[in-house]
Amino acid sequence: MKNYPRFPVVLTLLGGMFAAEVRAQSTLKDAFKNDFLIGTSLNQPQLDGNNPRETELIKAQFNSISPGNLLKWETVHPKPDLYNFGPADQYVEFGMQNGMFIVGHTLIWHNQTPKWVFQDASGNLVDRNTLLARMREHILTVVGHYKGKIGGWDVVNEVLDEDGRLRQTPWLKIIGEDYIAKAFQYAHEADPNAQLYYNDYRLESVSKRLGAIALIKKLRAQGISIAAVGLQGHYKLNWPSALQIDQTIETFAELGLKVNITELDMDVLPPATSNQGADITMNFALQAKLNPYTNGLPVSVQQELAQRYTDVFAVLVKHHKDINRVTFWGVTDADSWLNNWPVRGRTAYPLLFDRDGQPKPAFNAVIQTARPAN
Ligand code: GLA
Repeated sequence: MKNYPRFPVVLTLLGGMFAAEVRAQSTLKDAFKNDFLIGTSLNQPQLDGNNPRETELIKAQFNSISPGNLLKWETVHPKPDLYNFGPADQYVEFGMQNGMFIVGHTLIWHNQTPKWVFQDASGNLVDRNTLLARMREHILTVVGHYKGKIGGWDVVNEVLDEDGRLRQTPWLKIIGEDYIAKAFQYAHEADPNAQLYYNDYRLESVSKRLGAIALIKKLRAQGISIAAVGLQGHYKLNWPSALQIDQTIETFAELGLKVNITELDMDVLPPATSNQGADITMNFALQAKLNPYTNGLPVSVQQELAQRYTDVFAVLVKHHKDINRVTFWGVTDADSWLNNWPVRGRTAYPLLFDRDGQPKPAFNAVIQTARPAN
């Protein structure tokens, strides 16, 4: 009879189980401390201490924060002569007190930007120079206010269309193509040490990714330096494939860029539309068949979600050298935007913590993908 090395096998198995056990009790930020930062977006109730359980989770699990809606133009600069820094000051203070990497999101976007930005007193569209001056004033004021405190800015958000061409926005129509280069120049002028990012969704699709590569090359030719590309990461159970994510990260890394995963969540609900994007203006009527898990997530879907997170994180860990940060868009399922988009009033399950702030199987699955500490 062959002499099987039973004892070592048993020991190895036990060792493996023990390691898994120990790592399962780990926090996200500790598990990935040799790989990348782990971030979350914050909202006002969490900052105000009106949701202490979530605030504690944020402190325990994450070492980077993103400002949800707090630094969008409509919040921070609602009227031409009015800056409302209160909420964002609170956010930055929270990050500094907790030693976190603080993200600025977002300077230039076509959504959540007040109409007045593009209009004169009679409601007509302003000309190029007026809009450039407004853009410069906004960026210098906001980035300048947080100089040395906010470590990196999403300078432009969602500037490409699905076909990879520049999205038709008031910024493009009024200023012209160079509005993106100008935004980066102004942000650099305001804080030369801040990392500057281009952030978008669906760059995992080839047509859009090719547009991003062309855009980045063009900006570089004009002397603009981009620290990282932000992949929003609003994913579904079946899209994009792990291979698409892998290839996307590889492509940007080959260009010498870092990648941030900036708004990660995993939608498990039935699609309300065939559109795979994350356009926040979409809105479809609530129907029971679109909201199947109001009484909880079935075990099978819970497992599917955990497996999906495993597959995605395996790719992220593989590329740890190219990735600075992985940020989730929300802390618990209760505060995910997916409860209200693209259908209002659904019960969504996209994150690692459930509605009671308890870790889901997906949390343990993610922790298991971390490289063992060395
Ligand atoms: C986009 C934006 C985010 C946020 C999400 C939806 O991805 O970049 O700021 O608005 O949509 O919550």
